[in-house]
Amino acid sequence: MRKVKLYIAISLDGYIADNNGQIEWLTGFPNPEKTDYGFADFLPTTDTTLLGYKTYEHILQLAETYPHPDHTNYVFTRSERPAAPHVTFVHGEDIPGFVQQLKSQPGKDIWLIGGGELNAAMLEHDLIDEITLHIMPVALGKGRSLFSGKAFEKRFKVERTKVYASGVIESVMSMMATFS
Ligand SMILES: NC(=O)c1ccc[n+]([C@@H]2O[C@H](COP(=O)([O-])OP(=O)(O)OC[C@H]3O[C@@H](n4cnc5c(N)ncnc54)[C@H](OP(=O)(O)O)[C@@H]3O)[C@@H](O)[C@H]2O)c1
Repeated sequence: MRKVKLYIAISLDGYIADNNGQIEWLTGFPNPEKTDYGFADFLPTTDTTLLGYKTYEHILQLAETYPHPDHTNYVFTRSERPAAPHVTFVHGEDIPGFVQQLKSQPGKDIWLIGGGELNAAMLEHDLIDEITLHIMPVALGKGRSLFSGKAFEKRFKVERTKVYASGVIESVMSMMATFS
């Protein structure tokens, strides 16, 4: 079965974007070792991406065209959207059914890009198999939460952790069985 892998960066207080949805605190963070934080190794393990419409919109603001044209890309939205290059819009509310069906197909793993609202829907239904989390030593005070501020308890097993010279902490963790 293919895994769903969330690969994402957060502020030290758990936000993926500031209150306006911006990420300069992340993209502008000093990177003296010029590392890609493992992204070049991670990307070829996947052939599919999942993202919420707000993240898709933000990516297009930054990149003009969707940057992973060789992946199969699904953008979740509750609205009708005109067809767009490289992506398929998914309107259904049945996220678990859609993702379980994707996972059962042959292929590489599935990259859950975010953002927080989609992450929360995925986590709520135990659909995230692995998380690669980059914790940036930056506090934002407020912003968009990793899991959209939703309340639920899910546990992960930390598989490995690495600290970069910049102070960024990388933690790779896998989903544990749900506790009742
Ligand atoms: N730090 C990082 O590494 C990182 C990574 C990814 C994203 N981000 C940031 O995260 C921010 C966006 O996160 P966000 O939490 O505000 O939004 P999001 O999860 O990216 O997108 C939310 C939108 O997705 C659609 N959606 C969500 N749940 C759905 C469901 N169950 N069924 C169908 N559609 C659904 C809706 O689109 P419609 O409104 O069209 O209906 C909703 O408004 C952006 O600023 C982005 O830059 C940061």
